[in-house]
Amino acid sequence: MSPVAEMEREAAGVTPHEGKLGVMIPGMGAVGSTLIAGVEAVRRGWAKPVGSMSQMGTMEVDGREELIRDAVPLAPLEDVVFTGWDIFGGSMYDAAETAGVLDRDHLRAMKPFLESIEPMPAVFEERYVKRLTAKNKKKGRNKCDLANQVRNDIAEFKSKTDRQIMIWCGSTEIFHEPKAVHQTLAAFEKGLVDDDPDIAPSMLYAWAALKEGIPFANGAPNLTVDIPALQELSKQVGAPICGKDFKTGQTFIKTILAPGFKVRQLGVSGWYSTNILGNRDGEVLDDPDNFKTKEESKLGVLEHIFHPEQNPDLYGDIFHKVRINYYPPRGDAKEGWDNIDIFGWLGYPMQIKVDFLCRDSILAAPLALDLCLFMDLAKRTPSLRHTGIQEWLSFYFKAPDAPAGKHAEHDLFKQAVHLKETLQRIRVESAVGETVAAR
Ligand SMILES: NC(=O)c1ccc[n+]([C@@H]2O[C@H](COP(=O)([O-])OP(=O)(O)OC[C@H]3O[C@@H](n4cnc5c(N)ncnc54)[C@H](O)[C@@H]3O)[C@@H](O)[C@H]2O)c1
Repeated sequence: MSPVAEMEREAAGVTPHEGKLGVMIPGMGAVGSTLIAGVEAVRRGWAKPVGSMSQMGTMEVDGREELIRDAVPLAPLEDVVFTGWDIFGGSMYDAAETAGVLDRDHLRAMKPFLESIEPMPAVFEERYVKRLTAKNKKKGRNKCDLANQVRNDIAEFKSKTDRQIMIWCGSTEIFHEPKAVHQTLAAFEKGLVDDDPDIAPSMLYAWAALKEGIPFANGAPNLTVDIPALQELSKQVGAPICGKDFKTGQTFIKTILAPGFKVRQLGVSGWYSTNILGNRDGEVLDDPDNFKTKEESKLGVLEHIFHPEQNPDLYGDIFHKVRINYYPPRGDAKEGWDNIDIFGWLGYPMQIKVDFLCRDSILAAPLALDLCLFMDLAKRTPSLRHTGIQEWLSFYFKAPDAPAGKHAEHDLFKQAVHLKETLQRIRVESAVGETVAAR
């Protein structure tokens, strides 16, 4: 881009957030329904949006701390409207009841609102999520036809809202590596017509969203937009992307502790992490192929924080294991244990035990909300719109997507700095736009 064009783009500033923000959710289960019910509870003044950086976090403005939602032009919660897709019928009330995350009393009090949101029939392939059987599924000639049906759904929602974003809260798909069909947009679009088996359902939603110029965030560990073809499309159409896998329970704690050991030059010889989980996500992850996707997402964290190649004496020989066991009695109230073997001065060993009795979707919902609002902001920000992967949102992910040849940052504190610095840049860009508009 020429310097003049660049200046003109900058001068345009951040587009204001007028009208309704439509949030489209493929996969309206525990996280999806907790997000929707939670936003409504906050709107009604029944609860605070705890855990949401966009709603409760602050940033420095002229030497004072100001709420982020006041400092940058974020869409207000009152303007957010939801829709989505799921393989189960029913409404968001039924989904929330099945998920069992929120109290029955809470849900009953907003029953008409939750019943007014019904998932549209999904694009689903059992091969990718082996433990679930679809009841509410689209039929089509090939993957191109199915993806175009999703585009039609999006077009319909576009007529009722002013801006849109899509966030995948669907089940974890089986593990698969990028293939030739994922390398270029041309190969991918040919693959849609050829019904290529390596194009996963989540990729069909992502392609449809991007084709419609809509940002796409991935809350699961699936490959989805972590492929060159969809990164190319994202940049081309100016619709930001990010992923993958919400950083909620155990990995959240891991990315707090590990940087602490590293900065104090304490060694680590082993890190054994195990979980019991009884929700539908736990059931899906009980299949080895689906678990492998989650395992890969969780395992990368330590290596990227410790950089064993730079400090082999401290981190060159870590035994790292991650287990998830499906245990129905616990429902969404996951328990995550960590046994950490560390060593200090002269190599003397020590142990740390962490037992996190968490609520998975209570931790995930505010992350999903922030991603919706920040991705909408990124799309309205000229300097971010065409950059593809939004690395400044790595803060939210277990396995942050990064451009080819670049390692994503995993340290939660460095990620938080990157997030806040980007918000500062957006604030300045937004102020420039306002000044130009006022002239
Ligand atoms: N709950 C958490 O804290 C958490 C944390 C990190 C990541 N995640 C990931 O987020 C995702 C959602 O988690 P959850 O707890 O809500 O699971 P869930 O099983 O309650 O909900 C997922 C929903 O996706 C639906 N689905 C599956 N394939 C679909 C498709 N092709 N199209 C439309 N819908 C589809 C399922 O029917 C289900 O209702 C999972 O991939 C999970 O691994 C969750």
